[in-house]
Amino acid sequence: MEDISLHLLDLAQNSIAAEATLVEIYIKEITEKGCMYLRIHDNGKGMDQQQLDKISDPFYTTRTSRKVGLGVPLFKASAEATGGYMRINSAQNKGTILEALFYTNHIDCLPLGKPEESLAALIFLNSEVDFVYCHEVNSRQFRFDTREVRKILGEVSITEPEVIDWIKKHIKSGLDELYGGA
Ligand SMILES: Nc1ncnc2c1ncn2[C@@H]1O[C@H](COP(=O)(O)OP(=O)(O)O)[C@@H](O)[C@H]1O
Ligand SMILES: [Mg+2]
Repeated sequence: MEDISLHLLDLAQNSIAAEATLVEIYIKEITEKGCMYLRIHDNGKGMDQQQLDKISDPFYTTRTSRKVGLGVPLFKASAEATGGYMRINSAQNKGTILEALFYTNHIDCLPLGKPEESLAALIFLNSEVDFVYCHEVNSRQFRFDTREVRKILGEVSITEPEVIDWIKKHIKSGLDELYGGA
């Protein structure tokens, strides 16, 4: 995987495959500590203990189209390569929480990439699922919630190209502000 945002896109697709209706992505960066904490929380069907025990095994998948599952083990490897970790907590019929810590100063740390692109793709491809994206850098916070966007849109679909484009720009400018730009 080229960057962390592509991992997020991939992992959120697991949540959607697990029939989640709400996927919350939370990122917290603490510059002074050189760390980035990520959490993906969904309300999908979750996993039982046996599935949880297997999930870090790169050959485990419940999909039938191909025999190996790689999304989770690759993400774990990306976090561990920086000296960080990845953990999963899940309860059947309640949901799943996946957490990871990346040490961003480590030479092997992937760049964050473009969260606005991943979010836009997720929203466009899964119009019936709600997403929350909350990103903190030190004491600043940016929060985006598709439920709020839907309220403003009324009858207009969230997948309209103009809306998707606005979402992308809105998240991008939120991130620029977080990082002390514009
Ligand atoms: N958020 C989630 N909720 C429920 N099950 C999950 C979730 N994430 C992963 N899983 C389970 O773990 C398996 C492995 O996931 P992954 O490594 O991404 O491979 P793949 O998506 O190719 O199956 C999935 O097939 C699924 O059974
Ligand atoms: Mg997957």
